[in-house]
Order: sequence, then C-alpha cells, then structure tokens
Amino acid sequence: MLLVGLYCRAFSHNCHYAESLRRIMDQTIVIFGASGDLTSRKLIPALYELSQKNRLPKNYRVVGVSRSPLTTEEWKQKLKTTTSEFSGSNFSPTGWSQFANQLHYLACDIDRSSDFRKLGDYLNELESDASNGRLYYLATLPHLYTQAVTQLGDHNMAAEEAGPRRVVIEKPFGTDLKSAHQLNQALHSVFDEKQIFRIDHYLGKETVQNLLVLRFANSIFEPIWNRNYIDHVQITVAEELEVGRRGGYYDSAGVLRDFFQNHLLQLLTITAMEAPPRFEADLVRDEKVKVLRAIRPLHQQEFARNTIRGQYAGYRHEPGVARDSQTATYAAIQLQVDNWRWNGVPFYLRSGKAMSCRTTQIVIHFREPPHLLFGAGATGIGENRLVIQIQPAEGIQLHFQSKVPDGGMRSRLASLDFRFQTGYTEQLPDAYQPLLLDAINGDASLFARSDEVELAWQIVDPILYAWQNEQAPPLEFYEPGEWGPTNSHQWIQQFQRKWFDVCPVIH
Ligand code: BG6
Repeated sequence: MLLVGLYCRAFSHNCHYAESLRRIMDQTIVIFGASGDLTSRKLIPALYELSQKNRLPKNYRVVGVSRSPLTTEEWKQKLKTTTSEFSGSNFSPTGWSQFANQLHYLACDIDRSSDFRKLGDYLNELESDASNGRLYYLATLPHLYTQAVTQLGDHNMAAEEAGPRRVVIEKPFGTDLKSAHQLNQALHSVFDEKQIFRIDHYLGKETVQNLLVLRFANSIFEPIWNRNYIDHVQITVAEELEVGRRGGYYDSAGVLRDFFQNHLLQLLTITAMEAPPRFEADLVRDEKVKVLRAIRPLHQQEFARNTIRGQYAGYRHEPGVARDSQTATYAAIQLQVDNWRWNGVPFYLRSGKAMSCRTTQIVIHFREPPHLLFGAGATGIGENRLVIQIQPAEGIQLHFQSKVPDGGMRSRLASLDFRFQTGYTEQLPDAYQPLLLDAINGDASLFARSDEVELAWQIVDPILYAWQNEQAPPLEFYEPGEWGPTNSHQWIQQFQRKWFDVCPVIH
C-alpha cells in the first residue's frame, strides 16, 4: 500500500485506475466515424477490453455516429465480428454481450445542423444524470474535424455546465503549420485547451511510457544522459508493410507528415526532455515544448546535407499513387538540440515503409572510453549502447564490452536484456486502451498540446518546402526489404556515424 502510494505520487497518472473509479461519474463516449476502420480496429476493441478489466466508469455508454444508415443492431453485429478478430484470445462471447448492451448507433451527417440537434436530444435521453461526462472522439476523415467541432459548439454540446465535455482528435493535426494553426483556432473557438486531447498513439505504447519511468524513476541513467557520455542518438521506426490500400492518403502525406511531425518527434522529446517537477499534463508538456524549441532550424544547403529521402521500388504502382510520384516513403534527418544537455549530440531520426523488418527503437550510443587500455584485438570498442525497443517485442538491451574467457585481455560486445514479456505476467495493452482511459479521466499528460503540435510543424514544414525546391536531396529508390536507399549508409558516414541496422534485438 505504501509502495503504491509512493508510486502514485511520482507517476500520478498511473493511479487513475483506482482514482477514476471514485472520481468519474457516468460517461458517454461518442464516436464520430463509427463505421470507419479506426473504430472497428482500435477504438471498440480497446473499449471492450477496458470494460472486461472493469476500468470504465460504472455507468457508461458508447454512441456510434456516422452517415451510414445502420441500426444499432447492425452496428453491433459488425463490431462483434471485428472485435473478435482484433481482440483475439481476449474476446469472449459473454463479455461481448455485456459490453454490447452499452452500444448505441445514430446515423448523422456532420454537415447537417438538424442531425446535430437530433444527436443532442438522443444523448440527453440516454443520459439519466445531468452531470454525465462526455467524450467526443473524432475518428472521421480529417477534413470534417472543423465542421464537427463547430456543430458541437453551435448546439451547445461543448459547454461544461453540468459535466465534463472533452474532445479527442486523431492525427493528422493539419497538413502543415498553417492548417494546424487554423485547426487549433477552430478547436479553441469551441473548446478550452484543457478539454482537447490530440492523440498520438505512440505515446500510449507501454515502452514509450516506460522510457519516462526508466529516465525519471531511476537515478543511474541521469548522470550519463547528456553530452558528456552520449555520442549520438538514433531513433528508427521501420515498417515492413508497404502502403497498400492507403495510397490515396499516403501520396499526399509522405513519410514526413505521416511519421516525423508526430511519432518521431514525440519519441525525440521524451528521450531529450528534462524531468518535469511533477507528472502533470502541463508540466510534462512544457518540458517537451522546450526540447522542440531547442531544435536547431535548418537553412539553405543544410537541407540537402542533413536530410535524405527515398521511395521504395514499386510504390508508384500502388493504387491511389501518382505514376510519377515524388513522395518519400523513407526519410532520415539529422537534428541538433541546442541546449546544455545535448549540445553537439546529433539525433538521427529515420522511418520508412517496405523496410527489412518491423522495428521501432531508440538507440543511445555512448562515447568511446577516454583512454583505450585493451585496444588491440578488441571488437566494437566504443559500441556501448542502450537499445530501447518499442516494438514489436518490448524491452531494453544494454551493450557493453566483456572479457573473452581464456583470451588474454581480448574483449567482445556482450548484452543485458530486459523483456517485458518475461519480466511481467501482465499482458501489454494496445496503445488505445491507456489513452482512452486517460481521456475519459481528463489526464492530458500523454496528449499533444496545441503549441507542441505547431512547434513540430515548424520543424517539418521547412523540410517539406525545401524538398519541393532546389534544396532537396535527390529522391533515391530502394528495393523493398532493405534498410532504405543504399546511399543512406554513406549519408550517415559523412557524420562519422553508422546506422544500427539490426532487426528486433529482443524477441
Ligand atoms: C500511423 C501511420 O500513424 O502509424 C501509419 O499513419 C503507420 O502509416 C502506423 O503504419 C504505425 O503504427 P504502429 O503502432 O503499428 O507502429
């Protein structure tokens, strides 16, 4: 009990499970885009599993809203099939029947004011208690966000007169700085910032949150987590998947908008941020914002030197992709964080589709020892690394030199592993579970604030712009199943570094 109390004080959001049950009144979760992919693949399976763990408020209901003319029964049937597919062995027909009793569906056109009036009346009828909380989840096409939010405002559905009203928004938050700013303005004209939850599902991944625990609940890493001991940091999100059916969206987004503006910069901020005084939403986000502000802007020829872009062979034949598409499906960028902790420590960020394997990893490369005593015959001196593997298998691996037995003073790289799968019996939840729960509980620590989103665009926008002009590095092609274009190796070698091209180190 004492331990739980101490842990709660240090990481208050982890105590929500216990606290929320006390604190949260009735809750309605309204999902706009209820017939879409995100709802069936992620949101409903996450809510279903939370219900099975008794993590949802005692009285809750989920109201699906979309234009499709479905009845509640038809919606439930559709979701039963998809949830059993996506929840796998966590699905039980009895559990589903209990959960499905809380599902409701209303056909509603976001463009039609009369439909919103109908929705308002429908929700009021379902909710017995006036202090009922409401979470509006925008899982619609992004061009409908502003309209949906405006309608909620016009129909007095955002005001917190009785209970809390919160809105969750999925990425993309705009397609550039200007559109992100306009979206923020539209949101702020209806909702207060504390009611807005911009979701980046990478922040819901257990290993990403564990990075916060690793850094700020241990004292052993802090003394070496800086320019004195760290040579550089590599953050890689490699996907084996090709673009597939998402060609239409992807060809206008490309890897910079799809991964760098959000997931990769989020991983960078968590790796580089200072410890906040308390684990509270604004304090955490203030620290992340400071990192984004410290990222050195690139100018002119620096774009071609510090960035590289590639496209996998065959991409132009994907459905929805232009035959002469210049869209990058791979990119790598060198960024510098200009502050006391990180000055002179480059951060290499890269991501690509159709790569050799699926792995997301943050690799902290430490400096060489200042004086090499056992240099002769040693392999990999200077390759002290901490590999934080976010997925597919979650864990941490520390690389260090050890003496080869009976080999004189020869040393070799050895490793220490920590695997979540063997370290704990609990199953790692899908990222949407903790994030949905936090949004219901009003904890925005793991959600992006408006200034954070705009600062991230301020970093990515000039690169997007440079790539359309003469400052662009050439678009290199790579075969699916490779670690990006072959010249990515020469690219990083010009900075005297080498990619850590290793498929998951932990299985
Ligand atoms: C999404 C991107 O945000 O993340 C997709 O739009 C990508 O292109 C997906 O495939 C990857 O998510 P995860 O959790 O599988 O790494």
